Amino acid sequence: MPNFREKLRLLIAEHAEEYASKPLIPGIDYLPASGKCVGPDELSMVAEAAADMWLTAGRFATEFEEKFAQWWSLDKCLLVNSGSSANLLAFFSFTSPSLKDKAVLRNAEFITSACCFPSTITPALQYGLHPVFVDVDPMTLNPTVESIRQAIGPKTRAVLLAHTMGNPYRSDHIAQLCKDRGIWFLEDCCDALGAKIGDSPVGSFGDFATCSFYPAHHLTMGEGGAVLTNDRLLHRIALSLRDWGRDCWCPPGATNTCKRRFDWQLGNLPVGYDHKYVYSQVGFNLKTTDFQAAVGLAQLKKLEKFIQKRNANHRYLTRCLQDLGADQYFNLPQATPGTSPSWFGYVLTCREQGMRTPIVKYLERQKIGTRLLFGGNLTKQPMMADIRWSASGSLEHSNKVMNDSFWIGVWPGLGKSHLEYMASKIISAVSDVKPTAKNVVPAAA
Ligand SMILES: Cc1ncc(COP(=O)(O)O)c(C=O)c1O
Repeated sequence: MPNFREKLRLLIAEHAEEYASKPLIPGIDYLPASGKCVGPDELSMVAEAAADMWLTAGRFATEFEEKFAQWWSLDKCLLVNSGSSANLLAFFSFTSPSLKDKAVLRNAEFITSACCFPSTITPALQYGLHPVFVDVDPMTLNPTVESIRQAIGPKTRAVLLAHTMGNPYRSDHIAQLCKDRGIWFLEDCCDALGAKIGDSPVGSFGDFATCSFYPAHHLTMGEGGAVLTNDRLLHRIALSLRDWGRDCWCPPGATNTCKRRFDWQLGNLPVGYDHKYVYSQVGFNLKTTDFQAAVGLAQLKKLEKFIQKRNANHRYLTRCLQDLGADQYFNLPQATPGTSPSWFGYVLTCREQGMRTPIVKYLERQKIGTRLLFGGNLTKQPMMADIRWSASGSLEHSNKVMNDSFWIGVWPGLGKSHLEYMASKIISAVSDVKPTAKNVVPAAA
């Protein structure tokens, strides 16, 4: 007689077809700009986690943290409940009194890109830091090393920067700048899992790497994120901040990992106060559950393939668009020299003003999903209305992104037929929006 787990496995195998991803038909099905590739493998893992009935972070979370850190060639990984929480945790770690005179204090300045995702920087804004925005390079959509160098001032304490759409900025050089000046550096890799600079993965240069496992991303667990570092002290601080600020590092369900549970004396607490209830940081609870981690483990086995497929799709879309002459109308994406991107989406910037909105409306009507490059120039967002900020230099290219850029999908659920359809519709969109001598029907005499 098969036991309950074996029955579950057999049942899932029997119904695998129902959970296999269905092919999308161009022109009939909507082609989203991003999507998740999940199926029976992920379902089997969730079922295993459900059969455990552990419910919080447990064996799957621990296994994911170990395997993911190994995959990334980084020492330590902490699983959290979103990419935004990963950024929150990483930033607040920089403010910990455990860092003594290196801790970031309120009213210090940090540097970021004007074209960023809000939650790369919201923790720093919430903490009361002053943002200094830099512009992006129009071709790579990332700030240059020189722009960061110029933005550094006497009050700069952190650089918080995401690799835009999977295209790396030179975090190797920026890390060196930061190190020389005692500035903390957070590499937000939420959109760039698997991108490299030379042979080294992005995220291995900064003090922290963060990533998101929301369904749009290279690897998904529904909601989820991670914080990775090679720095033992930062890891220790982040672990405590993630888990209520406690001093104890026992995983859920474990006790006395330190073998001194009733022997510590910390703060002004009495000797022997249970280490489980000693709080050395002003913390959060940002943990995830084993259900999410179990899905992540199934996805991790496919991550390299997902990354290759995204990059192959990006290359193919460039070929299709170039063959159709799209580069007359759009700036096509360009990898930062010296780097290997892990593309998140395909960004097109209309050369001419006023084209973007009608083009995305046209594409959506053709069932092609479009997205904007996050907040465009973030300084223009309503969230910034009551925040004091400054810019280092002009934000001219960020304004161009805000007005004229959009992106479409390269996620692994898309293949050549989808990309060919998307490329051809982009060209039709241009003629639909911008009648030229060739396609204007002469008015009746
Ligand atoms: C660059 C970047 N950072 C952070 C996040 C936040 O991740 P999450 O949605 O998991 O909170 C995102 C989300 O897409 C992102 O693109």
